[in-house]
Amino acid sequence: MKSHDDELISNPLATPDFGEIVDRRRRSLLTGAIAGVMLGAMPPGALAAQRARRGGGPVIGFKGIAASSADELHVPDAYMSQVVFAWGDPVGDGPDFLPDASNTAADQRRQAGMHHDGMHFFPLAGSSAHGLLCVNHEYTDDGLLHSDGMKQWSAEKVAKAQAAHGVSIIEIRRERDSWQLVRSSRYARRITADTPIAISGPAAGNAGMRTANDPLGRFVLGTINNCAMGVTPWGTYLTCEENFNGYFRAPKDATPEHKRYGISQKTAGYRWHEHDERFDLEKHPSEANRFGWVVEIDPMRPDTMPVKRTALGRVKHEGAFVTLARDRRVVVYMGDDERFEYIYKFVSKRPYVAGESTSGLLDEGTLYVARFGEDGTGRWLPLRHGQGGLTEANGFADQADVLIRTRQSADKLGATRMDRPEWIAVHPQTGEVYCALTNNARRGTSEVPGLNAANRRAENLFGHILRWREGGGDAAAEVLSWDVFVECGDPKLSGANLTGNIKGDLFASPDGLWFDRGGRLWIQTDVSTSVLGDRNHAAFGNNQMLVADPVNGDVRRFLTGPRGCEITGITSTPDGSTLFVNVQHPGETASERSNPDQPLAVSAWPGNQFPALGKGRPRSATVAIRRRDGGVVGAAG
Ligand code: FEO
Ligand code: CA
Ligand code: CA
Repeated sequence: MKSHDDELISNPLATPDFGEIVDRRRRSLLTGAIAGVMLGAMPPGALAAQRARRGGGPVIGFKGIAASSADELHVPDAYMSQVVFAWGDPVGDGPDFLPDASNTAADQRRQAGMHHDGMHFFPLAGSSAHGLLCVNHEYTDDGLLHSDGMKQWSAEKVAKAQAAHGVSIIEIRRERDSWQLVRSSRYARRITADTPIAISGPAAGNAGMRTANDPLGRFVLGTINNCAMGVTPWGTYLTCEENFNGYFRAPKDATPEHKRYGISQKTAGYRWHEHDERFDLEKHPSEANRFGWVVEIDPMRPDTMPVKRTALGRVKHEGAFVTLARDRRVVVYMGDDERFEYIYKFVSKRPYVAGESTSGLLDEGTLYVARFGEDGTGRWLPLRHGQGGLTEANGFADQADVLIRTRQSADKLGATRMDRPEWIAVHPQTGEVYCALTNNARRGTSEVPGLNAANRRAENLFGHILRWREGGGDAAAEVLSWDVFVECGDPKLSGANLTGNIKGDLFASPDGLWFDRGGRLWIQTDVSTSVLGDRNHAAFGNNQMLVADPVNGDVRRFLTGPRGCEITGITSTPDGSTLFVNVQHPGETASERSNPDQPLAVSAWPGNQFPALGKGRPRSATVAIRRRDGGVVGAAG
């Protein structure tokens, strides 16, 4: 079973891309309109950036390091790294990790989950030496999670796996250069696949959300496959449910809804349904509708219940990246990470006003899906019941139905099928939006439709980063203009689809994207372990993190990870002096499931590099990176 780079394509591909045809017809008119808007109402930040563009981009103050296949984490010489929070570490006063993975499910509920992903540092009293870290735990390698792996599969093992999913909220404090967990924290908590979570927004209470355990459709147990994230201006954390399909066993006759979301009898590889019947859709047909959402958590109020915000749609949510429109309405960018799926944005109905209630801001608004035209323009198409064919006559009962079946709604509107949308980052000064499209080796092959301008490479092995500017520089605009920031590849390979156009250090399969306050674009990679180090990927080495100058496109490698890992999740202290980065699944094998008899077969990290972590199992971990002179990470001087 493979959770990420599986061969799944759920988008029906029989029809030509209607959106592209429409866009070609209206090309000249729209181009003119957007050009007028863009030039006429450029925001101050964009003008400043255009001036900066002439003088160069942000300063990147380190020398790029070499690609590496070593089983260690490397950073430039002027930097130091420290593991802060590894799988199994205590959350608050939880129990210590046992290196043979013999901790119980009850232990795991009070320890760091597995497979760290998106995260955010919330300072306490504005401090850069004391704060809360929210960390997503995306999925589990059950070969490592239990002492004897998946042998003698049991209810206890399912419970432990469920406890290793979700989110950790931990309190951390720095003494000089060393970050430490605060064991007696009033904030520390785990949110798992079993934690009560409220459902809000248009789909709450809908028939499609009701189950035997929840006849009102208002509460659900747990959040799963928590991939990337977002942060609201009011200080809450958004955790996003990505590949939820792999936890559910479809009924014998899977419905079109199951198929469209990749739920089948074959793909329930986590085997939870064998001991927890709510993951068996034969018995609880609506349960899968209650996953695939964005979940809001208030880390500062540990007594509050997380909330699934259904207005933001139901897809395989990578992340939910928040910015504000010019009138301070809340804008959330979201990718649906599967081959040929779409990019979305939500625009709230009401503006964010500091000090006023924010409780309904993410419950009311418009969800849009992106259509990227052939000519560098594009349009946000609203998923509004009653418009664009989303009508009762076409089988869409109401807005709740439109949202529960977000993918089918977007199909109807003729959105652009993308090469696996991952993280999205908004430039802090210009408002330009960058989206990592990690790869799609199935594009342009005989079985699938052809290319579109925004996804123009057949068999896109290495991925690219797309960039757009919203009409008038306003994040709430319904029009945009786009270009390709970079196409990944290796110039030494032959074939235009493989060489790419990277200026600087080479990388492939971009996934995490994040801007620091200085306008440096941080890029994290996730080359699948099934191809890591193969002939085409030899030049890239292990997964890594780089920094790009968004103005001139230069790319420099900052970090390389240990064997079998993905680098994902990035956040910093307010002063930029500590960067937190996650190393996910070190030691992962091509099958994504380790052999419990040989847990160190691929990697012994972090214990081999940081002996205090023990050598029993490779462990996903949050790493703190600081400059030896205490300066801003990534910057010069
Ligand atoms: Fe969880 Fe698409 O990465
Ligand atoms: Ca990702
Ligand atoms: Ca990925």
